[in-house]
Amino acid sequence: MLFPCIDQIEVKGKRLLIRVDYNVPLKDGVIGDDNRIRSGLETVRYALKNGASAIVCSHLGSPDGKPVPKMSLGPVAQRMSELLGQKVELAPDCVGPEVRSMAARLKPGQALLLENLRFHPEEQGKKPEQRGDFGKQLAELADIYVNDAFAVAHRNNASVVDAPKWSKKCCIGFLLKEEWEYLGENLAHPKRPYVAISGGSKVSTKLGIIRSLLPQVDDFIIGGAMANTFLLAQGHGVGRSLVEPDLVDTALDILHTAEEHKAKVHLPVDFVVGRGAEDKEPLGVFDADSIPAEGMMLDIGPKSVALFSAVLRPAATVIWNGPMGLFENPAFASGSLALCRAVADLEALTIVGGGDTVAVLHQTDLSSKFTFISTAGGAFLEFLEGRELPAFKALKECLNR
Ligand code: 3PG
Repeated sequence: MLFPCIDQIEVKGKRLLIRVDYNVPLKDGVIGDDNRIRSGLETVRYALKNGASAIVCSHLGSPDGKPVPKMSLGPVAQRMSELLGQKVELAPDCVGPEVRSMAARLKPGQALLLENLRFHPEEQGKKPEQRGDFGKQLAELADIYVNDAFAVAHRNNASVVDAPKWSKKCCIGFLLKEEWEYLGENLAHPKRPYVAISGGSKVSTKLGIIRSLLPQVDDFIIGGAMANTFLLAQGHGVGRSLVEPDLVDTALDILHTAEEHKAKVHLPVDFVVGRGAEDKEPLGVFDADSIPAEGMMLDIGPKSVALFSAVLRPAATVIWNGPMGLFENPAFASGSLALCRAVADLEALTIVGGGDTVAVLHQTDLSSKFTFISTAGGAFLEFLEGRELPAFKALKECLNR
């Protein structure tokens, strides 16, 4: 591991600024899925148990640099209090004199949650001058900066890249360590056969990950609407399905690159077709070479499920990002759910990431059958593309000072 983890440094009597990603779905003040809070709490719990005080900070949603009451972290503070079994106070802001004095008053074993970082435009300022001294103000609340927010590691946000610059000491939390170990270390030396599954609506958003995984995997399964562009590239009719015609050459190039790397690409061979995304009933199941002109390919069909399941059966390592169809509509969910069951049944290292894919898992009771479910969406993709994420660059700079 590149970075020291919280349990490798002395935290007793220290104030820790812990950057978490508690960007949870919130509707009318009710948290839809508290998984990100649960996963990130081990670090906070460790800090409190070991005589530190925890100043926890996170963003939630996209309030565009203004205080938006419905994006307050109030419900998160309440949930944290319930899960930790002790009161977690919500600060009225994340910087400023009142927050400074609340942070200074914290005793060992106590936790404070700062209000939504994105209520300040500086948090997401693209250039350093737009971020100003916001990161410095955050860092000055504490003795040690702890990054436990893998899901936001790809963002040049002040709390991610500037706060460590102004911290005397920094380390990572348990969740970030786990994400790094699974996505970085385990996948660097995968047991074979290694199978990648990519789905979702657009090839354009997955180009980076496809290009980076192709040289590494033995098999690459492509589903979801992004498969439509590949089928179009191979000369199939795709009816009124979602496609990216300008990426047809790119799709052909990907197929060619796969051949060079001896990775087998598997595309769906049949589809559940509908007239539109809102359909209650599909038009029917059609083979890839006979999609009706008025139809839209909205899920993979049973022959594709059988084909993909057979490819997966011998796998020792599987990485999955992106659903096989429009799973939000039950009429087009069966392909994604069947694939989920096929992966869950494997005796393999199975890693899943991305909000939609995790939502597919949550429609089943199979989550516990997967080896690792990443809490990240965009950061998961960018990390697997092999890019150095801004959070890690900043941590390295802090540690090398
Ligand atoms: C996520 O949900 O992927 C992270 O919290 C990052 O959120 P963002 O995409 O709004 O920066």
